[in-house]
Amino acid sequence: MAGITNAAYRRLCSEQGAGLYVCEMITSRGLVEGDATTRQMLVFDAQESIRSVQLYGTDPAYVGKATEILCAEYGVDHVDLNFGCPVPKVTRKGGGAALPWKRTLLGEILVAAVQAASRHGVPVTMKTRKGIDEDHLTYLDAGRIAQESGVAAIALHGRTAIQGYSGTADWDAIARLVEHVDLPVLGNGDIWEAADAIRMVEQTGAAGVVVGRGCLGRPWLFRDLAAAFARRLAGEVAQQPSRSRATLPRLGEVATMMRRHAELLSAHMGEERGCKEFRKHVSWYLKGFPAGGDLRRALALVSSLAELDVLLAQLEPDAAFPVAELGTPRGRQGSPRKNVALPEGWLEDTDGTGSVVREDASETTGG
Ligand SMILES: Cc1cc2nc3c(=O)[nH]c(=O)nc-3n(C[C@H](O)[C@H](O)[C@H](O)COP(=O)(O)O)c2cc1C
Repeated sequence: MAGITNAAYRRLCSEQGAGLYVCEMITSRGLVEGDATTRQMLVFDAQESIRSVQLYGTDPAYVGKATEILCAEYGVDHVDLNFGCPVPKVTRKGGGAALPWKRTLLGEILVAAVQAASRHGVPVTMKTRKGIDEDHLTYLDAGRIAQESGVAAIALHGRTAIQGYSGTADWDAIARLVEHVDLPVLGNGDIWEAADAIRMVEQTGAAGVVVGRGCLGRPWLFRDLAAAFARRLAGEVAQQPSRSRATLPRLGEVATMMRRHAELLSAHMGEERGCKEFRKHVSWYLKGFPAGGDLRRALALVSSLAELDVLLAQLEPDAAFPVAELGTPRGRQGSPRKNVALPEGWLEDTDGTGSVVREDASETTGG
């Protein structure tokens, strides 16, 4: 997740449970042209044994070169390609969730990445949405093209671009994609608790899940996910309401987690920037817990670890986890868009060979 899954957060989450933690999205062009911000985002924690990066790209030549750089210079072990970004400034140029409409171009990009990565034995996956809108679905073709291109797995977010993050994800589409392709499908959308992940794989036949907003302010979700999948592997029946087995930290434990998060951010980017970066996470950590408005505001303006300690000490450590929050959405939701911004004539053909889709070197908006 852009703006969230930097090296510090990936480390924090991986301390909680097994999983593959993907670096924030970086742009192919930014990487190839040596853009400083892009390069700064490619930081890995010393404990990070599997380096996983998501690339955004619209031009096969740039994507191929960027993949080569990631594998050869950064020792990356997994490359994921983003075809799910719904943001107007991206789709307007034909990027993100708009790109799979151009089937041939999609194939060219995937092949370029797979060819570069396979020289290093690195798997390439792709992440996409159902399509542009219900009248312009792309995911089944994208699955087929991914398979033909040698992609190792495809992750599907069960929404169209026009939906943004609104409504509920369509898990039936994930099931349809599972039926349609032979490669592993990873389901994505609305996993708030480990129980949701188990329900998703059972309902759809997906090989695994991708978690986005559910982990905001809740790195321990990965502990629950690892435990739930281990129980499933051990043959325990799924009907058990595993929601009742969710980790329910008291506020004191959450405060410890917040401190750890801020500390890791500070270690990676310096205390001043680290504390600034930490601010956006405060409301997610405290969601549903009792904490006064003044304290919340002060925490959201914290500028040093010492100040953070003083503020965290004011939280009531024994306050119980707000169970009413379980299973409820967190992070951005919004409402559906009126339309999806696309380049002129984009929908007229589905080929796209030779289409020039301008890639913004500094695109960082995610998916
Ligand atoms: C703040 C934020 C940043 C995101 N950045 C990315 C990104 O860089 N790449 C990507 O593929 N998806 C990104 N997403 C989308 C999520 O990965 C995920 O597909 C989507 O939120 C639906 O899953 P969820 O219901 O588990 O959140 C982002 C989502 C949010 C809320």
